[in-house]
This record gives sequence, structure tokens and C-alpha cells, in this order.
Amino acid sequence: MKSINVGLLGIGTVGGGTYTVLTRNHDEIARRSGRDIRITRVADRNLELARQVTQGKADVTDDAFAVVSDPAIDVVVELIGGYTIARELVLQAIANGKHVVTANKALIALHGKEIFAAARAKGVIVAFEAAVAGGIPIIKALREGLSANRIEWIAGIINGTTNFILSEMREKGLTFADVLKEAQRLGYAEADPTFDVEGIDAAHKLAILSAIGFGTHPQFDKAYTEGITRLDAVDIKYAEELGYRIKLLGITKRSEAGVELRVHPTLIPEKRLIANVNGAMNAVVVKGDAVGPTLYYGAGAGAEPTASAVVADLVDVARMMDAAVDQRVPYLAFQDEQLQDLPV
Ligand code: HSE
Repeated sequence: MKSINVGLLGIGTVGGGTYTVLTRNHDEIARRSGRDIRITRVADRNLELARQVTQGKADVTDDAFAVVSDPAIDVVVELIGGYTIARELVLQAIANGKHVVTANKALIALHGKEIFAAARAKGVIVAFEAAVAGGIPIIKALREGLSANRIEWIAGIINGTTNFILSEMREKGLTFADVLKEAQRLGYAEADPTFDVEGIDAAHKLAILSAIGFGTHPQFDKAYTEGITRLDAVDIKYAEELGYRIKLLGITKRSEAGVELRVHPTLIPEKRLIANVNGAMNAVVVKGDAVGPTLYYGAGAGAEPTASAVVADLVDVARMMDAAVDQRVPYLAFQDEQLQDLPV
């Protein structure tokens, strides 16, 4: 069986989950993929944590650049987040001919165009299922399962932290600050939780979904973004009295002007399925012209749900890496030369 050596950058919440899932399900994954996929090197600033998680079964370093230049590494998994060092590492990995798996929505939303161009030039795969809606295979669904459709709109709850905050405030009467702390403790929130509560994280993910649905480059800067910080407990209470739930939705659709992207709190009638998505769960509705509305539901954040998508990407890479480049699914579902920029 062919071996695939993986270099893992970052062994925090999602990195730890990825190490655990890949190790625990190693044999099942080998049966599915026909590949022996192993994390052989781990880079993290916290060497003690990296040693504790890997238990001597992987080489541990605090130098991520050494991992992306290691000739023995086939695939780099980038889970450090942010878009400065992460961008440099991913571009370096690509330049060194490595395939890349990332959960980094900010990176793809802001620098996707540059990263995919570099990857195409080098003939390597960049997989990013874990960047949107945690464990829900929404990118695969949009890119592959719905490829017969002209997508009309996509709308969803795509930030687990804010959905957790809104649900706990409504159900338990807890304060915004207390629930946010709990979301941080449970590993749902971003390193800078402003990204969650101001709707920025949702806008990153929406930019990616929109690009795949409508054949544009990811353009986060085109999104209208409003978070949940201006909502009070009383807003949630009044909405409930009127038969509505407040959800932070990301919505993208075709319009006369091109493609519209917006993230904002939305009143949803309480009988709708999406109004009943609670806790850190995510749900995305995609409307295709042939299939009609389809709904995807699952955990949107957290260690193992997100790791589920990271490891699935690793399996995809392991399966596709020996295929000719033109037989691979295009990064954003459309042929690259067909991708468009949105109007300013
Ligand atoms: N902070 C993100 C969320 C993590 O709460 O949805 C998953 O992308």
C-alpha cells in the first residue's frame, strides 16, 4: 500500500482533532483510500502539547517552514489560522510541490485567487472542505453533487459560535459575555472572537460558498457584514413573542448587479427548519434550478467535526494526487479561465 506522509502545521483544537481522528480511524481510512496516510511531522509553537498529543509517534518541531520544505512530506495540513504566516507557509508548500489541505477560511476568502493560481501552476491540489461549515461536506455538495444545476441562491447559518450564543441566550437566558466564554472554552470561537461576533468569519465562509456556487473568485471585500453585537436579550425575547427566531445568516444570490453577499441577523419564522438549528450547529440551504432547495445540517465547529472534513480532504488528496491534473475537480467548481471578478 502506498504511504502518504503528512506534515501537520498547528496542533490546537482542530489540529489535535485531526491527529486523533486520523490515528483512530487509520485502518478504516486505509481500506477506503488504499493509502497508508500518516502524520509524520508536526509543527507547533507549543512543543510540549505537540509531544503530548503525538506520544512520540511523529517528529515534532516549532519550525513550520522546515516541515513545508521537507522532501519526505507529500501533503501539508495547515491549521494555524490567520492569513499572514499561513499564506507564506501555504505558498511555500505549493512552491515545493506539496499538496495542501487547509481549514483556513480567512486565507481562502482573502488570498484564494493567488493560492489557486500558484497551485495550478505547480499542478498540486489545495483542498479546503473544513473551511466552511465544519464537518458538513458543503463544498463537495456544491462542487460535485449539484454540478448539474444553475445555483440560484445559498443561505445559511455558517458560524457556530454566534449560533451557540443566540441559542443559549434564548433558551437559558444567559448573557452574551458568559456564552461567548463558554464557546471559547469548547473550542468553537476564533482566536480573535471578534471575527465570530462581528460576522467576519461568516463572511469569509460566504465568500467561498459564493465563489463555488456562482463561478467567481472569492471576494470577501464585497460582502456586507453585520454581526450580533448590537442585539440585546430583549430583541431575542420580542422576536420569540412574535413567533420568530433571530439567526445570523449568510446569504448570497444572483442579482441584476451581479452576485450579492450579505451577513446579518435575520428574523426567521419559528416553524422553519433553519430556525430550529441550535447550539454550534450549522445549516446551509442551496437552491438549484433543477433540484430546488436542499438543506445540509451538521456540526459547524469543534475539534472532531472539523477534523472530519480535514481528514476527508486528505483522503481525497490521496486518491487524486496520481491523477492527471485535468481529471481533478477544479478548485472552485468552474473551469479556471471561466472565473469572474465581481463588480466593484
Ligand atoms: N469560529 C468558527 C465558528 C469555527 O464558530 O463557526 C468554525 O469555522
